[in-house]
Amino acid sequence: MKELSLHLLDIVKNSTAAGASLVRVELTEAEDHTLTVVIADNGRGMSPEMLAAVSDPFTTTRTTRKVGLGIPLYRLAAEQTGGSVTLESTEGVGTTVTAVFHLDHLDCAPLGDLPGTAALLIQGSPQIDFRFSHATPRGSYVLDTQEMREMLGPEVPLDAPEVFAWVTEYLAEQEAGI
Ligand SMILES: Nc1ncnc2c1ncn2[C@@H]1O[C@H](COP(=O)(O)OP(=O)(O)OP(=O)(O)O)[C@@H](O)[C@H]1O
Ligand SMILES: [Mg+2]
Repeated sequence: MKELSLHLLDIVKNSTAAGASLVRVELTEAEDHTLTVVIADNGRGMSPEMLAAVSDPFTTTRTTRKVGLGIPLYRLAAEQTGGSVTLESTEGVGTTVTAVFHLDHLDCAPLGDLPGTAALLIQGSPQIDFRFSHATPRGSYVLDTQEMREMLGPEVPLDAPEVFAWVTEYLAEQEAGI
């Protein structure tokens, strides 16, 4: 079973491919064991036709346009748990992908390595700003690369190996606390 963080990697790649300069990745776990994942970007967005094609798995299989598997597989992973994926997109403004997973469902994939995934995304697109947050009923944390840039100063790029190590360690610590 694929880990949810690998799906996140896929969906955030769509945002970076769409020319986003800022991507928000928000995980919220509720008392009722649902996990809501919001991935919001300020990339080029989609035309209404493209949005319809990407949103409807039955349309996409019949279209001649090349449409990939990232979103359909993400949708499958969410729907297998009794959840859903919804897309909102405006051309020239951005795209928001909201997924709901039922964590207590037998077919829910494990979250996987969230710290490693976030570190990989930052290292892979050091010019893009990310805002990661994870909230559970026990606590929450935020990692904002805009704040990191201010702390690190202009000499340290976000793809420096020591930044990768710091992000991984920091997020692992934060994950352990919530
Ligand atoms: N955040 C986004 N912003 C703009 N367009 C998007 C976004 N996410 C998806 N799309 C559009 O929807 C299409 C389908 O996305 P999907 O992730 O399902 O497949 P893919 O990225 O084309 O291929 P794959 O993910 O399999 O490598 C993309 O090719 C892109 O045109
Ligand atoms: Mg994709």
